[in-house]
Amino acid sequence: MADNAARQGTGRIDTSRPHSARIWNYLAGGKDYYEVDADAAEKVLAAFPGMRDITLASRAFIGRVVRHLAGQEGIRQFLDIGTGLPTRDNTHEVAQRVAPESRIVYVDNDPVVLLHAEALLTSSPEGACDYIDADVRDPERILEQAARTLDFSRPVGLMLMGILGLVPDHDEARSVVRRLLDALPSGSFLALNDGSTADPTYVASIEAHNARGTATPYTPRDPEEIAAFFDGLELLDPGVVSCSRWRPEGTSDQVPAEVAVHGGVGRKP
Ligand SMILES: C[S@@+](CC[C@H](N)C(=O)[O-])C[C@H]1O[C@@H](n2cnc3c(N)ncnc32)[C@H](O)[C@@H]1O
Repeated sequence: MADNAARQGTGRIDTSRPHSARIWNYLAGGKDYYEVDADAAEKVLAAFPGMRDITLASRAFIGRVVRHLAGQEGIRQFLDIGTGLPTRDNTHEVAQRVAPESRIVYVDNDPVVLLHAEALLTSSPEGACDYIDADVRDPERILEQAARTLDFSRPVGLMLMGILGLVPDHDEARSVVRRLLDALPSGSFLALNDGSTADPTYVASIEAHNARGTATPYTPRDPEEIAAFFDGLELLDPGVVSCSRWRPEGTSDQVPAEVAVHGGVGRKP
């Protein structure tokens, strides 16, 4: 696909530096990356082999969260910001397996994700999917465009998975979360995860990655800082934890219980 992307190049695609969506795709076993992304990912893996577990734990967490929100909480609308490149079990596929009428809006600012957006728009006939090319730092624009597909008078599952580490300023990241939540009615949910400082080797490998030069530097946060994004919400059990510990389902995830990616789910009262 990297060739395909190059052929269809939008002029915005930068292949001179690694980008998070493409690195993440490499780590998750996809095909939608450039050499510069694979090199960057391999350097991180060489310093910190547990990076693969972080990717697996994150993707498994997302699947369990969406199944829970659709299955147990009756959520039928999802706003998934920082979607990433299409992969196995995209949010709409998981949600619509539970409830085919689910409506999903994806948001990302990476031009390669935009190029592949059609793979995210394969909604069931009963539901709907949309894709918005936008920056999470502009929540008002996202909300305005998402209103084409989502009814903001009804509960929404807001997903911020692995994206706020790309908004390094903590106050700005908190402001983004607050402005998005302010637009959602009571009974909505925030589901969020991010790389955490729980493992010093992970933190050192990400700092070295940032120092080598990337278009998208990443900032792991303390688990307490990640938990603070849920202020004002009712946190579902077991709270903000290592993602492998969030309502694990058997042993199929095959990742350690403690991984340096923390997340949780909270309900807006
Ligand atoms: C680490 S990936 C996570 C992908 C997916 N949410 C997951 O957890 O598997 C981060 C995603 O956020 C996107 N992203 C980074 N900064 C962004 C921004 N300022 N606005 C919107 N999307 C952004 C990247 O392009 C990438 O697709």
